[in-house]
Amino acid sequence: IEIFTDKKDLNEKNILITAGPTIESIDPVRYITNRSSGKMGYSIAAEAVKRGANVTLISGKTNLDIPVGVKKFIEVESADDMYNVVMENLENNDIIIKSAAVADYKPKYKQSKKIKKSDEDLCIELDRNYDILKEIGKMKKNKVLVGFAAETNDLIENAKKKIKNKNLDFIVANDLTQEGAGFGVDTNIVKIIDKNGNIEQYPKMSKSDIANIILDKIKLLLK
Ligand code: CTP
Ligand code: CA
Repeated sequence: IEIFTDKKDLNEKNILITAGPTIESIDPVRYITNRSSGKMGYSIAAEAVKRGANVTLISGKTNLDIPVGVKKFIEVESADDMYNVVMENLENNDIIIKSAAVADYKPKYKQSKKIKKSDEDLCIELDRNYDILKEIGKMKKNKVLVGFAAETNDLIENAKKKIKNKNLDFIVANDLTQEGAGFGVDTNIVKIIDKNGNIEQYPKMSKSDIANIILDKIKLLLK
């Protein structure tokens, strides 16, 4: 399907976007996940398509429709799945936007049978997942790398650490304690911090407007 707009300024750019939550299985009936709805990542995918980009969307399970015009859509479950699929698709993409909320930990032992309750308290041991963005950062080369940071405190300080640690061009940080920001809603309140320490603060905006601001910033970096 061809989408017509007068602003095809990302024509033929190959963009990989991750979105949504990951799911870490505990046993056949239970899992660990997070509150990500996927809306921010899907908005970026939709706007990038309108601007002419070839979009690969790698997504955890969401209730959203796949944005029309996305070239490649792959649904994943766990952080390990997302890691594998992202790595398989890295080479073809010059722009990587990691808006997915990836689980930092997964249950250490995969139970093939349902865990039965007992009178004892239950302790589930967790293992660290790969930091996908950090791994991409190590082999970045000329790619543009954009991360997200959802914080409840010390937003700027934490976001700056993530830029450095993951070798990002810029990070989109939002304060989860603000109403109209973060998970589930159609709006967000973000600060964009770049690797030189420049901070841009935006008011409450629709996720599609924020998506276009992010894409504008990426476009400047491509020049
Ligand atoms: N990220 C990732 N792989 C992980 C964890 C996070 O690729 N295993 C990415 C996210 O997609 C996001 C960025 O890293 O773009 C920041 O995620 P966030 O959870 O805010 O930061 P963490 O580094 O995991 O630190 P913490 O959760 O302790 O704040
Ligand atoms: Ca995390």
